[in-house]
Amino acid sequence: MRPRRPKAAAPQVRVLADLDALARAACDEVGVAVREAVAARGRADLLLSGGSTPLPAYELLARTDLPWDRVHLFFGDERCVPPDHRDSNWRAAHEALIGRVALPPENAHRIAAERDPEDAASDYENVLIAHFGLRPGELPRFDLALQGMGSDGHTASLFPGTTALNEKTRLVVAAFVEKLGAWRVTLTLPALRSARRVLFLVAGADKAPMVRAATAARTDAETPAAGLVRPTDGTLLWLVDGPAAQLVKTAS
Ligand code: 6PG
Repeated sequence: MRPRRPKAAAPQVRVLADLDALARAACDEVGVAVREAVAARGRADLLLSGGSTPLPAYELLARTDLPWDRVHLFFGDERCVPPDHRDSNWRAAHEALIGRVALPPENAHRIAAERDPEDAASDYENVLIAHFGLRPGELPRFDLALQGMGSDGHTASLFPGTTALNEKTRLVVAAFVEKLGAWRVTLTLPALRSARRVLFLVAGADKAPMVRAATAARTDAETPAAGLVRPTDGTLLWLVDGPAAQLVKTAS
């Protein structure tokens, strides 16, 4: 009898009063995940999101007393720029968090996206395989994957209409994003869906239509990329501010 695949988690949506409350809630969720993982497995594997929304939460985390020597930080995607470039997710996260906590340098796993995108993608896939001890076909199980969403519904660098979004086997791919005219390196849906916890942080009225589409109870052909990141065996929580939640019916 084949073991039943657990049902993908339906999204839970929590609306926060403002950006400070959003950052505090995110920091609390990450703290719980870290402490639980370290207690259970001796380490915590966190996947950081790029973009600007999570930065206040990263700054709060930098002031939180966590067992940073047991934490490993990974990135869900990276822009193909040098690590000190203003667009670099590494630079932003290093300034807000990594450079401010006692995390062993070898525990901060940067995507070397300044290299050839395909090489950077396969190198990072090998980092995940080695860290999680993956056999062919196995998936990395992050303790918490922090995700953002663009107003077009993309998450990580899985943009609508790109082949990266349809990748079913590789863990990390290079993606040329037409609308940006730029290369990105991104984790794929299989790599994101295997997390124990997926935590979306989304703010702003411009994202309201996609928040509604992405958090619908069921996915369909119209579901945006962010709505497809539903953990196969884990929890899914959307932390959103009022403007981003204005089209969503949430439990009052
Ligand atoms: C990136 C992110 C991307 C981001 C969204 C939202 O590299 O840009 O990984 O998926 O989360 O674009 O970005 P903001 O939080 O800046 O709106």
